[in-house]
Amino acid sequence: MASSGENEETPLPFTLSRFQVSEDYGFLLPNPLMELPAPYGPWMEIASSLPQLIASRQLRSRLHQMPQLSAGDLSGREELHLAHLVLSFLTMGYLWQEGEEGTVKVLPRNLAVPFWEVSQRLGLPPILSHADFVLANWKRKTPGGPLEIENLDPIISLPGGESLRGFILVTLLVEKAAVPGIKAIAQAINALLQLDEETLHKALQQLAGAVGDMSKALRRMHDYVDPAVFYSVIRIFLSGWRDNPAMPHGLVYQGVSEEPLAYSGGSAAQSSVLHAFDELLGIRHSAESTAFLHRMRDYMPPPHRAFVEEIQRAPSLRQHVLSSRNGKLCAAFNQCVSALTDFRTHHIAIVTKYITTAAAKAKAGRGEPADGAGPPPGKPPSLLEAKGTGGSHIFRFLKSVRDTTREGMISA
Ligand code: HEM
Repeated sequence: MASSGENEETPLPFTLSRFQVSEDYGFLLPNPLMELPAPYGPWMEIASSLPQLIASRQLRSRLHQMPQLSAGDLSGREELHLAHLVLSFLTMGYLWQEGEEGTVKVLPRNLAVPFWEVSQRLGLPPILSHADFVLANWKRKTPGGPLEIENLDPIISLPGGESLRGFILVTLLVEKAAVPGIKAIAQAINALLQLDEETLHKALQQLAGAVGDMSKALRRMHDYVDPAVFYSVIRIFLSGWRDNPAMPHGLVYQGVSEEPLAYSGGSAAQSSVLHAFDELLGIRHSAESTAFLHRMRDYMPPPHRAFVEEIQRAPSLRQHVLSSRNGKLCAAFNQCVSALTDFRTHHIAIVTKYITTAAAKAKAGRGEPADGAGPPPGKPPSLLEAKGTGGSHIFRFLKSVRDTTREGMISA
C-alpha cells in the first residue's frame, strides 16, 4: 500500500475506511446479517439448534445428512462473513461433540468444501476465529437500540448457555471500548506526519482512556461467565488442530486436501486491537511471543491485518516522543503503555481464574457447571491445561508479553 516513489512514505491521510475499520464499530462487523439467502436454509437450520444437537450427540449424524451446497451463490462481505461464521460453528461442533477423546480425523466433504470456498474468498483460515466468534456474531435485540449487553445476543451459539453468551458479548464490549483508541491511532499517525504535537498529545490521551475502558469492560467477564462452564463446557469448542495433543495430526478437509491441515483455534490473540496498539507504541515482544502473535495475524480479516502492518510501517512514534523532549507528550505516551500493561495484568488474572483455578476445581470434582449450560462433552478437557486454544504455552507467553509491554515505557 506504500506510495511509489523514492521514499516509501505512509500516504496522507491515514484513514480507517481504507482498511474496513469502522469509525463507529472499530473492527466489529457493522450490523452483521442474520440470515443467508434461501438456498442455504439447511446450514442455518442446523446452526440455529447447535447447542441442543451437540448436547444430544446428534450433530454429527445431522451433518452427515446435510446436502452438499456450493458457496457460489453467496455475494458480498456480509453474506460471506455470516457463511463463515455458520460453517465454522458447525465445524467446531462436529469436531468436539464427543470431547477431546472422541475426535475425528476427517471433516466431511459437504462441510469442508463450502467452508474452504468461503474461507478463500474472505482470506480467512477454514476454522473458527475471533472474527467469527465475536466480530461477526452479534445482533441487537431491539433494532436501533444501544450496543449494550442487555440489548445484544450472539447470532449463532455453542453449548454453554448464559456463560457462552456472556463470553462472546463481554469480548465484544472490549472491542467496542477500543473504538476511540483505534480512531486515536489514525489521528496520532496523521499528527506525527504533520508534526502537530498538540493533536498528537490529545490522540495519546484518548488512546490511554480507551485502553482503561477496555480493562473495565474485561472485568465484566466476572459477572457474566461462570468459570466451571467456561472451562468444562465452552473452551473445547474453541480448540484448534495445530499444537493440540488431542488432534496431533491435524484434520483432513475431504474434497479439499488429502493431506491433513493444521490450524490454531479461536482466541482473542487474533483481535487486531492489541496488535495495532503495540505497533503504534513500538512495543517489542520476545522473539518467541512475536512469532506466535504474528501467526495469529493470519487469522485476522486481511484488511485488518493490512491496517496493523501499515501502522508498523508508519514513522516511529516512540522515536518522535524520545527526540521531542516534550514532557507532556512523553507522559501521555507512558500513560498508554501503563494502561496497556494494566490491561494485560487484568487479563492474566482472568486467565488464571478461568483456566488454572477452574482446572484444579474440575480435577478435584468441585467444578460442576451450573444448570442450563448443557453437559460437558466428555470429561473436562485435560490436554489443554497449560496451552491456550491458540496453542500457546499460556503463562510463560502472557507474562512475557505483559513484561515487554511495561519495558516500552520511556524514562524521563
Ligand atoms: C475468560 C476469558 C478469557 C480467557 C480464558 C482468555 C485466555 C487467553 C489465553 C489462554 C491466551 C493465550 C493465547 C492462546 O493460545 O489462545 C490469550 C491471549 C490473549 N487474549 Fe485472552 N482470554 C480471555 C478473554 C480475553 C478478552 C475478552 C480479550 C480482549 C479482547 C482477550 C485478549 C487477548 C489477547 C490480546 C491475547 C494475546 C496476548 C496479548 O497480546 O497480551 N482475552 N487469552
